[in-house]
Amino acid sequence: MAHTAQDLATFCKKKGFMYPSSEIYGGLAGFYDYGHLGTLLKRKFEQSWRDYFLGLDRNYVEIDTAQIMPEAVFKASGHLENFSDPTVHCSRCDFSDRADHLIQRAIKQRVEGLSPPEMTSLIEQRKLKCPKCAAALRPVTAFNMMFPVSLGVGTTQRAFLRPETAQSPYVNFKLQHELQRKKMPLGLALIGKAFRNEISPRNLTLRLREFTQAELQIFFNPRLISKHPSFASVKNYKLRVLLEEDRQKGLPAERTAADLVKRGLPEFYVYHLVVIQKFYFEVLKIAPSAFRFYQLDDKEKAFYNKYHFDVEVELADHGFTELGGLHYRTDHDLGGHHKISKQNLEVLDEESGEKYLPHVLELSFGVDRNVYALLDVAFDDHKQRGNIVLHLPPSLTPYLCAVFPLVKNKEELVAKAEEVDALLQKHQFRPLYDEVASIGRRYARADEIGVKYCLTVDFESLSDGAVTVRDRETTEQKRVPIAHLSEYLRTSQ
Ligand code: GAP
Repeated sequence: MAHTAQDLATFCKKKGFMYPSSEIYGGLAGFYDYGHLGTLLKRKFEQSWRDYFLGLDRNYVEIDTAQIMPEAVFKASGHLENFSDPTVHCSRCDFSDRADHLIQRAIKQRVEGLSPPEMTSLIEQRKLKCPKCAAALRPVTAFNMMFPVSLGVGTTQRAFLRPETAQSPYVNFKLQHELQRKKMPLGLALIGKAFRNEISPRNLTLRLREFTQAELQIFFNPRLISKHPSFASVKNYKLRVLLEEDRQKGLPAERTAADLVKRGLPEFYVYHLVVIQKFYFEVLKIAPSAFRFYQLDDKEKAFYNKYHFDVEVELADHGFTELGGLHYRTDHDLGGHHKISKQNLEVLDEESGEKYLPHVLELSFGVDRNVYALLDVAFDDHKQRGNIVLHLPPSLTPYLCAVFPLVKNKEELVAKAEEVDALLQKHQFRPLYDEVASIGRRYARADEIGVKYCLTVDFESLSDGAVTVRDRETTEQKRVPIAHLSEYLRTSQ
């Protein structure tokens, strides 16, 4: 049965996946904590992301960097000047909101990218009023979303919490390029926190003020953008895209990678659209019908992008929602840092003797939004079973397996179950161990947190050395010898 976003929020809190931060003090808008199940899921998402994207090339490596950066970084990147959201305030009460969201809700059309004066005229034309008290709204203004921080005592140095992880690889580029023996293309991946003073944080972890991003910055020679050495292997791969020209139809179309190149997108860019779609289909197991790339037009694109497609997944109540993006940032950032830091960030192509400032292709993902999406698409209020079933992919679910002694007051059974638990721990499975309540109740609880296999140790186990393995998806049960369990779990994923 279809669920609502509220059902998911209630469930996440009840099971401890995630919930408002500092709740004993009433919480703080835009900040969420992950409980232990949520933390396991988030870490597994991050590890899958790492394995997949770092696996693309031996010259793609991960770094871990500071979250507070000096003002000069954001002068160079353009964030000081451009990283603002349009804000609208009521002329009478304390209401304020993002102007594009307020207009979008009223006229049911995306208006991202319009300037503050354009939004002000739209508000006037459509006679939009304060949704709280119906008074007139003030003209739309731009609000910079970066958090300034003060460092030490008595210093005048200005610094900010980074609003995207991306700037860290850019300021690390020169050193990392040398450390990687100047090999290009170079990929610098970073999973870390970003901070934005969102005007209206909302929807659980979809819009936070402190959130985690997983971003891969690929530095390359811009002369090579029209080619990718492996493009031939993906040219017939079908991408689900909603191009600018197809917007009126509202539906994504399947277009081959070769077709997108024919329409003017460079091979290097399209190749990475394929890489990202495969991650969503093959690793995260998102159904194709719930996935699309959304092409942003010139007004909607981030200020640093030449080509910009959002990665979107369809969520309950929210429709298609941005979880990430493929951004061709050209030399916007390195150019800025080259100028402001006065360090030479050019590289030398040793074969041709050509000196150039690398361009950047950014594969950007919000970890919290992806975790939300995984939970949302997995959530199933299963009427027949009478409990929620979380259909998370085995490689991502917090617990792949659980060990249950049939009853907890029989010493031999408990000892055997503990033996199975220890064996699986030794093989790196970290099972959930549960001995409380009936087996049926324990199956239901396991379904609710996405356990794929429940392993029950019963009286027969004492003589046949096997356990009953129950599969979350089919509820089918089969006997598997304890000696073969690790192998069974490994190959059944
Ligand atoms: N480095 C590029 C960049 O930061 P972005 O589109 O602003 O691009 C990338 O952000 C991703 O970060 C988004 O697609 C989204 O998944 C996530 N994100 C952005 N703002 C967020 C917020 N306030 N709360 C949660 N996730 C957010």
